[in-house]
Amino acid sequence: MNQIKKMLAVPAAVFALWAMSATAATNDDIAKRLEPVGQVCVQGQECKGMEVAAAAGGGGAKTPDEIIAKHCNACHGSGLLGAPKIGDTAAWKERADHQGGLDGILAKAITGINAMPPKGTCADCSDEDLKGAIKKMSGL
Ligand code: HEC
Repeated sequence: MNQIKKMLAVPAAVFALWAMSATAATNDDIAKRLEPVGQVCVQGQECKGMEVAAAAGGGGAKTPDEIIAKHCNACHGSGLLGAPKIGDTAAWKERADHQGGLDGILAKAITGINAMPPKGTCADCSDEDLKGAIKKMSGL
């Protein structure tokens, strides 16, 4: 009888140890997983990682590629409605030559021209943003 108790006691102790360390590991894991969330934002304080999200979501700095992908590509990618195609430098140059260069077609892009909507639908694009996108699309 004593022998049997001993045999049961050992695995029980091992199990208890295992259970404790397993719990500890789990708590650590949970803490680690919560860490980034806990760090993200406290209102009124600087938000780590949020500048990136803000930049990607518009309002912040935009790269020409982002603007083109989001706003211009819909028409200028395929030449929809007669839009000069991205990369078709000759078509863009022809327009630029008739309208006072890059700044001339930039002005048209800002106000809109025929089927080309004002600012190419990028309402919060600055003139510089648009110019960057036009340069990139036209290769001029
Ligand atoms: C809804 C479709 C559409 C979108 C979106 C669009 N464009 Fe256009 N775009 C056109 C069309 C169509 C023309 C040609 C208009 C014409 O001459 O009749 C054009 C022409 C232009 C021109 C030449 C203007 C000129 O003076 O000849 C520029 C520059 C231009 N687009 C820039 C952009 C930029 C930059 C974007 C994105 C921010 C953009 N477009 C988004 C349709 C679009």
